[in-house]
Amino acid sequence: MPEDLPEPAPTFRTKPVSFVRRSGRMSEAQERAWSELAPFYLFDVPRDVASTSVHADARLVPADVYRREAPLTVEIGSGQGHAIVAAATAHPERDFLAVEVFRAGLARTMLDADRAGARNLRLVEANAPEVLETLLPEASADEVWVFFPDPWHKSRHNKRRLVKEGFGAIAGRALRDGGVLRLATDWEDYALQMREVLDAEPEFERAFDGDWAPRFDGRVMTAFERKGLNKGREIRDLAYRRVARV
Ligand SMILES: C[S@@+](CC[C@H](N)C(=O)[O-])C[C@H]1O[C@@H](n2cnc3c(N)ncnc32)[C@H](O)[C@@H]1O
Repeated sequence: MPEDLPEPAPTFRTKPVSFVRRSGRMSEAQERAWSELAPFYLFDVPRDVASTSVHADARLVPADVYRREAPLTVEIGSGQGHAIVAAATAHPERDFLAVEVFRAGLARTMLDADRAGARNLRLVEANAPEVLETLLPEASADEVWVFFPDPWHKSRHNKRRLVKEGFGAIAGRALRDGGVLRLATDWEDYALQMREVLDAEPEFERAFDGDWAPRFDGRVMTAFERKGLNKGREIRDLAYRRVARV
């Protein structure tokens, strides 16, 4: 290529993502939820190259979106939204953001939130690391939740895991000093990886004594937890505090 020509723009992501986008059709109720409820619940993300990406200049300013100043909990990979809708309903004094790439799950979350009358919840359809690294302002989140992330248990797929080396910087950017990162998984080797990675990340310190954190009482039972229990797997919780920025 002649030297004076600019590099071609990348046409796809350079990093592996932690999801495979399911094209599963939405039910009629979910389609209706999308068109009727998305204007209120869904934050419209300016995109980069991929449909779940976040444009480098895109910003979600919580005070503008929620029209108030309140502590913000961000759940990444919120699935059907059971945990976050329950939390938003139980804590009207806090704000909540669900981040998910699974459209039918987002539709279900909107339907349940609407039914529960939760107005302190918004949804983002995007790749979670990009939301934490780019879309949210630095130090804007009070808590970040990662419950039952896809385990990618075959070793050749491990690189797709959400919580791996470098995740401390990603989550630590979005969290305020003293904010809390909560995790849960039913896969023992992923639990061990999460703990090893986060113990080593300079942004975080343990917020639990002993080997594992007690079950977070704001975490409701979901189908993924039930499936793990039915298969005889142990559920492990972790909690890490964002150390003060220097
Ligand atoms: C195993 S499910 C767990 C859902 C929910 N947390 C629960 O406990 O029921 C993992 C979810 O994370 C979502 N997910 C995986 N990687 C993601 C990413 N990079 N950004 C946003 N969502 C993601 C998947 O679409 C899926 O719905």
